[in-house]
Amino acid sequence: PKLVIVNSAGEEKEVEAQTGRTVMEVIRDAGFDDLLALCGGCCSCATCHVHIDPAFADKLPAISADEDDLLDSSDHRDGNSRLSCQLPVTDAIDGMRVTIAEAD
Ligand code: FES
Repeated sequence: PKLVIVNSAGEEKEVEAQTGRTVMEVIRDAGFDDLLALCGGCCSCATCHVHIDPAFADKLPAISADEDDLLDSSDHRDGNSRLSCQLPVTDAIDGMRVTIAEAD
């Protein structure tokens, strides 16, 4: 599947993502250095915060209590916020636009 990654400066890039990876890994591998992902995907840092295309919200796993708590710690949370390390790449999200959230 392809994902469109947009950084906080508004630059965007279409990337080919492999199923089985996480959206966080895809963004990092695409060379975006504004996604820190400090904890490496353990759902404990909230620095992999992204805003997803709402059209794909129901194609993604539900927000866990841990993810919800971490997102609450961000000043930039909105209704489309997710932690990208908690989002598996599947064919169902082909074409999804993912915007890297501003750093807190
Ligand atoms: Fe730390 Fe996602 S990489 S919570």
